[in-house]
Amino acid sequence: MGILEVVDETILTSDWHVLHRNIYWFLPEQRSRLSGAENPKSLSDEQFVVAERVLYNRILHEVERVVSAGGITRFILLGDLIFGLNKHGGLGHKIDFLRDELPQIGEIFAFLKESGVQRILLLGNHDDFKLGNARARSLYEALFDEITYYLHEDETLYTHFPLGYSIARDKTLGTEDEKFYRMHKTFQKLDRKLLEAIGEKPVVNYHGHIHQGPFPFALPNVQYKNVAIDASGDASSNASSFLQELTRATDDRLDHI
Ligand SMILES: [Fe+2]
Repeated sequence: MGILEVVDETILTSDWHVLHRNIYWFLPEQRSRLSGAENPKSLSDEQFVVAERVLYNRILHEVERVVSAGGITRFILLGDLIFGLNKHGGLGHKIDFLRDELPQIGEIFAFLKESGVQRILLLGNHDDFKLGNARARSLYEALFDEITYYLHEDETLYTHFPLGYSIARDKTLGTEDEKFYRMHKTFQKLDRKLLEAIGEKPVVNYHGHIHQGPFPFALPNVQYKNVAIDASGDASSNASSFLQELTRATDDRLDHI
């Protein structure tokens, strides 16, 4: 797939992690490919902002290209749009910085609106998923027409996390891999609810969160489609190196994944 997944009339994407400086350190190969940054692990403040501008300009042009080709009615972002909006400290500064230094983000969503494309956000763990902060909420409301946790349409399920992640969480408790599935209980409850609703019925699950596929705890009746931008292109098969990279990282840094 390209940088964006297009399925019928819908553009799907997730895990942009806008203004997440450490993602260039976690995923140097992917973020370097996406942004053109030559030294992703040691970016200066200026280089970081330039890399972000390049990446979101690229997404803007891809959105314009796909929408202009016709037939697109929906744009679904499957969570983790802007990094750190789940933590309210410094949030106003982050939103101001975004508006002033990264106008490409606003332009992407304004273009979609002008083009009559419905814009949907499925909340992820790094979004202000409780919608408790007025500034974060007004930002989301400016960028999206609908804000929710998941969509379930016939045999298709759209979520931030891969369906069954709460089982993976339980299976990895006490192990090094636990941190990949450590999220607020809001998501765990949702996963359990969806698992109960779907049971053993076949379902296609579009998701993000794990950045690189495939989900190692796949359920037999679920076909997983990871639409995170880091999973796009040539590096999508490189899941094991991603996991090794994470395992080498410090706990402190892993908390930000
Ligand atoms: Fe996530």
